[in-house]
Amino acid sequence: MRTVLVTGATGTVGSQVVEALSREPNVRVRIGVRAPEKNSVAGVEAVHFSYADDASMSAACAGTDSVFWVTPAMPGMAAVAQGFLAAAKSAGAGHLVKLSVATMADPRPMTIAQWHNEMEAAMRASGIPWTSLRPNGFMQNFLNNSAPQPDGGIYLPMGNGAASYINVRDIAAVAVKTLTENGHEGKIYDLSGPEALTGSQVAQAIAAATGRSIRYVDVPEAAARQAMLGANMPEWMVDMILDIQAHTRRGESAQITDHVQKVTGKPPRTFAQFALDHADHWK
Ligand SMILES: NC(=O)c1ccc[n+]([C@@H]2O[C@H](COP(=O)([O-])OP(=O)(O)OC[C@H]3O[C@@H](n4cnc5c(N)ncnc54)[C@H](OP(=O)(O)O)[C@@H]3O)[C@@H](O)[C@H]2O)c1
Repeated sequence: MRTVLVTGATGTVGSQVVEALSREPNVRVRIGVRAPEKNSVAGVEAVHFSYADDASMSAACAGTDSVFWVTPAMPGMAAVAQGFLAAAKSAGAGHLVKLSVATMADPRPMTIAQWHNEMEAAMRASGIPWTSLRPNGFMQNFLNNSAPQPDGGIYLPMGNGAASYINVRDIAAVAVKTLTENGHEGKIYDLSGPEALTGSQVAQAIAAATGRSIRYVDVPEAAARQAMLGANMPEWMVDMILDIQAHTRRGESAQITDHVQKVTGKPPRTFAQFALDHADHWK
């Protein structure tokens, strides 16, 4: 029996990892959450885990064979990560599988990639066996922050740039393999979907799945900034999002890799299928 701790278990990726891990035989799933009393899942042990509480991180990591490590995207995460790594080391965590972000090897990495880069360097220096998952933008972003507006417009400052969006379920499938099998230590997996899509192609796929009239609208960056600030988004987050979208606009998010296929034995899911799976959400 293998004990696996999932951090970020209430989030977009962590929740899918928990679901997929729960179907695995010989795996004891533990979730590290800030409010264990509110997050009970049948067959899963919920323990307190907060980046603001070193003791909670040590206790959550104790007795684990592997840990799915999610850090919320925000400035200062590299410093917070040091506390986690010290806790994981002292607790004897067996193997860390870190959720990072694509374009780490970009000569001009995105701000968010620079933060993950710092955390990865600290992870490698920790001496704990590690694996890095570096996914491109999530298809699931089109269910929330990049979703079509009530008028059918997807308003984003991405020009005609394409991105190889990945379905979070494929990230979870790779995570399950790396958390439960040997042989992934010291490996970096660059995770993409099977094709790079422009905003217009994303809009067409959602329109085809829902029957709604959906269109992509290329918004000037200054207007996007004003809209996000006007919605009370913190300035650092606005800068981070615009930076990601500028990479897409410049064609730097379009790379397609075969790492999902190599690790899971299955091709990554298409956006067309994702749109069909979630058509009700957009209707
Ligand atoms: N979105 C994308 O397209 C994309 C692409 C590539 C990589 N990424 C990376 O994915 C990561 C985010 O993953 P996600 O989207 O699955 O996360 P998410 O949905 O934003 O959820 C964040 C998770 O972190 C937990 N959390 C927040 N603050 C915490 C704290 N102080 N202590 C302990 N737990 C805390 C939250 O738990 P609570 O329930 O307690 O709040 C929640 O489970 C980021 O590192 C980002 O850079 C994102």
